[in-house]
Amino acid sequence: MECLQAEHLCYSYGVGNKPVLKDITFKVSEGEALGIIGLNGSGKTTLSYCLCGIIPHYLKGVMEGRVLVSGKDTREIPLYQLTSKIGIVLQDPNVQILMPTVEDDLAFALENHNIPRKEIRERIYEVMELVGITGIRDENPNNLSGGEKQLVALATVLALNPSIIVFDESLSMLDELATDRIISVMQKLKQKGTTQIIVDHTFKGLKVYDKIFILEKGQIICRGSKDRVLEDKDFLREHKIFL
Ligand SMILES: Nc1ncnc2c1ncn2[C@@H]1O[C@H](COP(=O)(O)OP(=O)(O)OP(=O)(O)O)[C@@H](O)[C@H]1O
Ligand SMILES: [Mg+2]
Repeated sequence: MECLQAEHLCYSYGVGNKPVLKDITFKVSEGEALGIIGLNGSGKTTLSYCLCGIIPHYLKGVMEGRVLVSGKDTREIPLYQLTSKIGIVLQDPNVQILMPTVEDDLAFALENHNIPRKEIRERIYEVMELVGITGIRDENPNNLSGGEKQLVALATVLALNPSIIVFDESLSMLDELATDRIISVMQKLKQKGTTQIIVDHTFKGLKVYDKIFILEKGQIICRGSKDRVLEDKDFLREHKIFL
């Protein structure tokens, strides 16, 4: 079953603005891990916003074509319903951090989904352990480093347990230890059947991907299984994508 689909998706941030996404069509099946690789400005974050419904529910702009989550157009799914199906770890973790302590921050999203208090506590302790942030649970998230904030933002989304997760450069600020930890979290999610869209400008998450798309200037210029895409080294080099 296709659980996430884009059909002829085009987007620009306003009338008369340059097109940022151009005729993007693809399908991701349940439990698949898709790596979307592209250089700065290629449209990765914009595509992530479209996939999780931030566009068009929150950011308007000019969107053509459609995104389907479990077969339904995101335009027709209210944002609160979308967020329980598809989670996004934003590129800028500051936007995702809202409460005075890490623990409160993790609890906040769950409280908004009316989850019982006991279950909230169990879930956030499990997720903090998984991501490796138990030791900073009483800290003010605003005082954490960029990488620590990224881990908190990631834990917030994991705690909600969505069936699809979009990671927008979630590995970019992490050291080697934290990167390995998050990659192993992604591998566990895969075993659990969570569908993952992992957006990056490098191949850090390579171990996890089943399929890879290369995004350039808002278009998918190469797509296929991991092995197929990586095989064409000359093509990747020509497009300034380095392994
Ligand atoms: N809020 C905005 N208003 C107008 N144009 C925007 C806005 N956000 C992004 N853009 C434009 O859209 C294009 C794609 O930006 P986007 O942030 O999606 O790229 P990206 O691949 O995520 O880049 P990076 O690797 O730097 O995160 C850029 O050329 C940028 O100028
Ligand atoms: Mg981006």
